[in-house]
Amino acid sequence: MAAHKFPDGVKDYRALVTGGYRFVDKTMMIRDVCEADDMVILCTRPRWFGKSINLSMLDYYFNRERAVTLDSQGHGAAA
Ligand SMILES: Nc1ncnc2c1ncn2[C@@H]1O[C@H](COP(=O)(O)OP(=O)(O)O)[C@@H](O)[C@H]1O
Ligand SMILES: [Mg+2]
Repeated sequence: MAAHKFPDGVKDYRALVTGGYRFVDKTMMIRDVCEADDMVILCTRPRWFGKSINLSMLDYYFNRERAVTLDSQGHGAAA
C-alpha cells in the first residue's frame, strides 16, 4: 500500500494543494463566507483545527494574482 503524505505543519493553502498531500477539501466554506450576512465571522476552534489554512484559502480566492486552481482530480496548480 502506498504511503500517504500528510500536511503536518503546513500553513499555506497553495502548499497544501500543490504539495501532493492528502487534504480535506473545504472550498465550500468559501460559499458560506460569501453568503454570510455578518460583518464579522468569529471562529472559536482549538489549535490545529485549520483556521489559518482556511484563511489562506480565502486569501488565494479573493486575490486574483495569488490564484490557485484545482484540476478535476483535485490536484492544485498555480494559475
Ligand atoms: N484542509 C485540511 N486538510 C488536511 N489537513 C489540514 C487541513 N487544514 C489543516 N490541516 C492540518 O492541520 C494543521 C493545522 O492547521 P492550521 O490552519 O495551522 O490550524 P489552526 O490555525 O487552527 O491552529 C495543518 O498544518 C495541517 O497539518
Ligand atoms: Mg493558526
